[in-house]
Amino acid sequence: MPATQTTLSPSPQNAVSDATVARDVLTPQVSHLLRRAFGVEFTVVDGESGQLLHAATDQPARDWSSRVELCRAVAQRGSAEFVEEEDPFSVLALPIAGRRDDPSRVVVATFVTRPIEHDDDLGAGARMLGLSPEAARDWALRQAVWPIEILERMADLTMEQLSASRRAEALDREVRSLSSNLSATYEEISLIYRMTQNLRLSEGDEALGQMALEGLEEVVLADALALLMLPVVGEEEALRQPARCKDVLLTRGECPVDGDQLKGLIEHLGLGVESRPLVANESVTQASSWPIPAVRQLIVVPLVEGDNLFGWLAAINHRDGLEFGSIEANLMHSVATILGIHSGNINLYRQQSEMFAGVVRAMVSAIDAKDPYTRGHSDRVARVSVCLAQELGCDERTLTSIYLSGLLHDVGKIGIDDQVLRKPDRLTDEEYTHIKSHVTVGHRILSDLKKMDNVLPVVLHHHEAWNGGGYPSDMRGEEIPMTARIVAVADAFDAMSSDRPYRKGMPDEKIDVIFHDGSGKQWDPTVVDAFFRARETIREISRRQREGFESDLQLWTP
Ligand SMILES: [Fe+2]
Ligand SMILES: [Fe+2]
Repeated sequence: MPATQTTLSPSPQNAVSDATVARDVLTPQVSHLLRRAFGVEFTVVDGESGQLLHAATDQPARDWSSRVELCRAVAQRGSAEFVEEEDPFSVLALPIAGRRDDPSRVVVATFVTRPIEHDDDLGAGARMLGLSPEAARDWALRQAVWPIEILERMADLTMEQLSASRRAEALDREVRSLSSNLSATYEEISLIYRMTQNLRLSEGDEALGQMALEGLEEVVLADALALLMLPVVGEEEALRQPARCKDVLLTRGECPVDGDQLKGLIEHLGLGVESRPLVANESVTQASSWPIPAVRQLIVVPLVEGDNLFGWLAAINHRDGLEFGSIEANLMHSVATILGIHSGNINLYRQQSEMFAGVVRAMVSAIDAKDPYTRGHSDRVARVSVCLAQELGCDERTLTSIYLSGLLHDVGKIGIDDQVLRKPDRLTDEEYTHIKSHVTVGHRILSDLKKMDNVLPVVLHHHEAWNGGGYPSDMRGEEIPMTARIVAVADAFDAMSSDRPYRKGMPDEKIDVIFHDGSGKQWDPTVVDAFFRARETIREISRRQREGFESDLQLWTP
């Protein structure tokens, strides 16, 4: 057996600390466990190459080059072994299995297996250790005695403990990873829950977008979050309806780009409506062709609903300078999906409202076209009715219904004979009956249209009288729907104040007298009272509308 004469370091026994073995050679847990079990420092050898990594300070300094194969074999077999034995010395080797980040090791230490006498001849054992008999005896006298069976048992226990602690560490890592995933998932679910709660409440897609950015800020570690909302209508269309006609950039944090620059980046990356979430880290952003060096890490996700692209959601620059990954990208994707669907719904609703308003405008034009003398009547009645309803404390929903009802109250005139409608002379009974049918005709025209449920009672009953005797149902008092009683007053006011082919519009004083006399007879007294309270405003509305009448329809579309 080869032996190298050498000296021993003077370290006292048990002065070994965990710090004596570098962390990259043995994990602190393994060092600590070995020291606690055996009370000595172990020499550490690389399990694959057999190279010496750390020489224990109070062990015979061996020539490891001749023992490389021995140590590799121990590492391969994976169990504790006595690799050399010569009375009274036994060399114990323990394999330390490698983990993901730790390569495999073999730790080796020499033990004294029986008590030493001062005159013991340790010749063979000393040669094995590469020491002189005197040095071997000196060293052996400083060591604890480990009877071989105790040493064996301790080696087995230590191996079991190492394996148990590896399992415990693996479990611990798994628990930590699960709990961090769980907390990230919780944050994501709570953000998405908050967003879905606000789908109904938020006023528009920009409000929901702002909320999403605030929520994402807590879960995505980015210097900046940006939401670029694209226009949904052209500038001309925007004059007719309140909808976004320009890019809007919402941001959180220190955003290094403006809306145009973000658009430029998206173009540079060749993204479009069908793009999946894109993550660009430094491998992309370090390229010389990258247009904005201030953007070092980027996630971009489109806001899409069907074939419509409503905008782009972006996270810019990782807060810790790390790379963005699929976890952040997936979360951004979920948020962008909700935002896209919401924008799509708003857009659909806007288009429906626009179509509805178009249908109503067409009907009002048709009514006006039937009788040029009453041109603008529908519009004025609508506005005056709203004014009366406001005076009576009606809520927003009722005001919307009242406005539409005012516009369409005479829609049935579309079905009345022009000759009768425009006749300047007194009507015959038959003609008057025909004219009166405009309420039932109107009701028929609108009855199949959705959204008109609240308008129908007004169309049918706006010619009923408070004390009975009106048409078509001879209702009285509060039997008559409130909205119909309101429109009746507005209708009468506009009829009296308008010029007719056979007379000029009545002066204000005369109208006041007629309302006074008709309160509680023709009209609901509470509505007439509201008329007198709001008289000046109503006259102003009426005057302005005659000068240049224009529709307010968009304001009052349900
Ligand atoms: Fe009417
Ligand atoms: Fe009317």
